[in-house]
Amino acid sequence: MTELVVRRLLIDLDQPFAARWNGGDAFRSAFFDALSMSFPVGEQYFIDSVRQAVKALPEAERERFADEVQGFVGQEATHRRIHALFNGHLERQGLRNDIERRAIRRMQANAHRDVRVHLAATAATEHFTAVFADWMLRHPEALEGAEPRLRTLWLWHAAEESEHRSTAFDVYTALSGHHGWRVRLYRYITVTFLWDLTRQTLINLWHDGSLLRRDTWRSAWRLLLARDGLFRGNFRQWRAYFARDFHPSQNDASLGRQWLREHEADYRVVGAAAGAAPAA
Ligand SMILES: [Fe+2]
Ligand SMILES: [Fe+2]
Repeated sequence: MTELVVRRLLIDLDQPFAARWNGGDAFRSAFFDALSMSFPVGEQYFIDSVRQAVKALPEAERERFADEVQGFVGQEATHRRIHALFNGHLERQGLRNDIERRAIRRMQANAHRDVRVHLAATAATEHFTAVFADWMLRHPEALEGAEPRLRTLWLWHAAEESEHRSTAFDVYTALSGHHGWRVRLYRYITVTFLWDLTRQTLINLWHDGSLLRRDTWRSAWRLLLARDGLFRGNFRQWRAYFARDFHPSQNDASLGRQWLREHEADYRVVGAAAGAAPAA
């Protein structure tokens, strides 16, 4: 069991920020914006899936997961609220959130499916976020020159994703553990999420007027496809999920713990009460 606490981030998100807030770099800003646009609806889906799944567990198992799931729900609820504030600024900058609309449509089309399917999709996406989080903590250049409060927001989120990386997976194991469905949903999430993320990034770049600039694609290469870039550098971690004996704890979470230790002044622990997740 992982002990999870809910933290209130002490940053001011009332003030707007520049369109190219990430070091003046159009691609890095557009890519992170696209990710943020997917979070509020995605994280609500994770919360709903895990809550539903826990209800379906036998009572003893439910007890075993109670505290961890409460912490998980509190963390994701805090993330979604803060990213909704972040996304509010993007909307005022004139960006169109298409990834959320697509995600909602897909969720509605799949709403009738068994809770184990939703949980497998959640566990798969949580693996993605944990790998991304660890990569971001290892690669400060991804946020080089970013506004300090926004840098804090992204690294705090990364540290907590790394911290709760096992929760959905462990509930899935307790409820079903079916390997075939786990990897099937992982393949589905890989294709749909990467496609939606790419589309939204292109929309954001088009709005920024930098879609056809050479600089934009140079930055994209560095961020995603260079030897230790987000996509190319994490191929092994992506593939690891297919192994029968895979467990999220096999991924190192020490950088997230270190970030939380070194940035205690940037947040306040408010407990693990799921219903009391604070606003920013
Ligand atoms: Fe999150
Ligand atoms: Fe998460």
